[in-house]
Amino acid sequence: MTTYNFQRLKISSLTAGIIVLLLCFVFITPARAGQPAQETDKYCLSCHSDSNLSMTMPSGEKVSLFVSLDSIEHSVHGKLGMECEACHTNLSTFPHPQQNFQSRRDLSISLYQACQKCHADNYEKTKDSYHAKIAAEGNKNAAICTDCHGYHDIQVPDQPRSRISTTCSKCHAEIYNTYKESVHGSALINENNQDVPVCTDCHGVHNILDPRTANFRVQTPEMCARCHADKTLMDKYGLSTDVYSLYKTSWHGVDISVYKARWPTIWHDSAVCSDCHGTHNIFKTDDPRSEVNPKNLLQTCRKCHPDAGPNWTGAWTGHNKISLQRTPMLFYVDAFYSSFTPFILWICIIYVVLQIIHAIVDRFRSNLP
Ligand code: HEC
Ligand code: HEC
Ligand code: HEC
Ligand code: HEC
Ligand code: HEC
Ligand code: HEC
Ligand code: HEC
Ligand code: HEC
Ligand code: HEC
Repeated sequence: MTTYNFQRLKISSLTAGIIVLLLCFVFITPARAGQPAQETDKYCLSCHSDSNLSMTMPSGEKVSLFVSLDSIEHSVHGKLGMECEACHTNLSTFPHPQQNFQSRRDLSISLYQACQKCHADNYEKTKDSYHAKIAAEGNKNAAICTDCHGYHDIQVPDQPRSRISTTCSKCHAEIYNTYKESVHGSALINENNQDVPVCTDCHGVHNILDPRTANFRVQTPEMCARCHADKTLMDKYGLSTDVYSLYKTSWHGVDISVYKARWPTIWHDSAVCSDCHGTHNIFKTDDPRSEVNPKNLLQTCRKCHPDAGPNWTGAWTGHNKISLQRTPMLFYVDAFYSSFTPFILWICIIYVVLQIIHAIVDRFRSNLP
């Protein structure tokens, strides 16, 4: 019976709570102080749900001040019940404090600062990025949080994964158009392949650096190797992971790793993966558009070896291990040296050992009475 009484008690306090809430709603709506979150939103929306509300900037641009409650409610923040004032901290009353934005872009650049309150880690990262660098130099088109994420309608940024590259495409349309045709981009966009790289896999997310520096260049092989040296991943596509291990021991690869270790800030032209394969325009090697397709390969080498004759590429073993089928001459030379050298070495060792035994036996004999 105690249980029953307890439930009655709970129900009656709930009813009372609802009545009090309703009373608050009816009588206190116009006031501002101490309202629950949804009430603050209502206050703001009492003006901002008007689709004709707008303001004209000194630049002449007309900015709509209409706010769609629906898109806020369906955003990552709306789902958490976040109120307007969580971001608009200085606008709790009307008239709003005087602002002197010259243009729509000025408004965005000022208001996006709100994000750092809760996302300080990402904000700190963006400060070192190339976008922030050019913003500091006065380029107002450099990407800020809201360019990539939106503001009232923010969604999970990597779902689906193709969303990431379309985010960058807003301002880097030409590169995106090249990328979406490439072996990586087309697999992502047409086949929903989750294994291929998107823009941020190669450039980073919030700390995007200038990719045209010596430092970035010497890191390229490891950038590609993250996937192309991963045997489990590459086996899925029948691709060889020798591309990385053999590159590392090639002339170009050794050259680049010396620079990486000793002079990472000095530009060196020795070939990295993207010099031969392209960057945003990488294709399967049998695709005629590929820069390493037999049709185009000599042209590609000639970018840096202008005197390369027609046989130049034939002499190059590429990423392939020396084999009887593909490079028979090299195979026999290699086989000869790899068996002949140890053979000679063994003869030497046996000879030296026999000499030592001979010397010991001699001494032993000469000590005999
Ligand atoms: C009584 C109507 C009214 C209410 C209530 C109101 N606003 Fe405004 N809001 C305006 C008008 C009008 C403007 C145009 C610029 C101005 O007059 O300050 C504006 C401008 C803005 C702007 C853009 C310019 C700026 O100052 O940054 C933002 C953001 C904004 N309001 C947010 C809010 C938020 C958040 C709330 C609730 C806490 C709110 N408003 C409540 C009428 C209102
Ligand atoms: C997650 C943070 C966040 C929340 C929550 C938020 N805003 Fe905003 N709001 C912004 C940012 C950032 C901008 C600047 C957008 C830009 O670049 O134009 C903005 C812009 C505005 C503007 C100017 C018009 C425009 O579209 O640029 C108004 C008006 C406004 N917000 C009202 C509201 C109201 C009303 C609410 C609550 C119902 C709200 N905001 C909730 C971040 C937020
Ligand atoms: C009052 C604190 C607060 C403010 C201000 C705020 N956020 Fe958030 N944001 C959160 C919380 C809490 C989450 C959910 C937890 C999480 O995923 O980090 C979130 C989630 C996100 C996500 C989704 C993360 C994911 O992987 O699901 C993005 C993107 C985001 N915020 C961007 C922004 C941007 C851009 C701004 C500025 C316009 C902003 N936030 C302002 C607190 C805030
Ligand atoms: C150049 C575009 C760009 C800019 C600028 C940018 N972001 Fe992002 N952000 C992304 C992308 C793309 C992802 C998803 C990355 C992924 O999953 O690989 C992301 C992920 C996030 C996430 C979820 C993952 C995490 O790291 O917690 C949050 C939160 C976030 N960003 C907040 C911000 C804030 C705050 C700012 C401004 C200080 C900002 N972003 C600036 C593109 C951007
Ligand atoms: C709001 C527009 C905008 C968005 C969105 C944007 N960027 Fe940028 N980005 C720029 C501008 C402007 C520059 C400077 C261009 C210049 O200096 O010629 C730049 C420069 C760069 C650079 C340096 C190389 C160069 O050409 O200067 C890289 C790398 C870069 N962005 C990558 C990205 C990636 C990756 C994304 C998506 C996660 C992204 N950007 C999203 C505007 C944007
Ligand atoms: C597989 C790795 C990879 C992917 C994926 C990738 N990039 Fe790049 N990106 C590079 C490398 C390496 C460079 C520097 C070498 C060069 O310029 O060719 C570069 C250069 C750049 C530059 C500056 C040079 C230029 O060509 O203007 C920008 C801007 C850029 N990338 C943006 C993007 C965007 C946007 C995406 C997504 C659509 C993207 N990248 C996808 C590796 C990548
Ligand atoms: C000097 C030019 C050059 C450089 C540098 C280079 N490649 Fe290649 N790559 C080629 C050529 C030519 C082919 C096609 C013939 C072959 O397989 O040797 C090829 C083939 C490939 C293939 C297809 C392999 C297969 O199994 O079909 C991949 C993947 C690849 N390269 C990735 C890379 C990566 C990753 C790097 C950097 C670590 C790199 N390449 C550096 C020229 C180059
Ligand atoms: C995030 C993982 C990832 C990164 C990083 C990456 N790749 Fe790939 N790459 C793949 C996958 C997966 C495929 C197979 C796609 C398919 O066949 O659908 C592929 C395919 C290729 C091919 C086509 C091989 C053929 O002939 O079929 C080449 C060439 C290639 N990548 C070169 C590069 C180079 C060069 C880089 C660095 C600039 C790089 N990749 C970075 C995952 C990656
Ligand atoms: C981005 C420029 C670049 C590209 C593209 C390039 N190389 Fe090289 N390569 C170099 C540099 C720099 C050296 C080092 C020269 C030195 O150290 O004296 C080198 C060295 C070599 C060497 C050994 C030394 C020599 O000069 O004989 C060979 C062989 C070679 N490359 C073959 C090729 C072949 C084959 C291709 C095309 C598949 C190619 N390279 C593409 C820049 C490049």
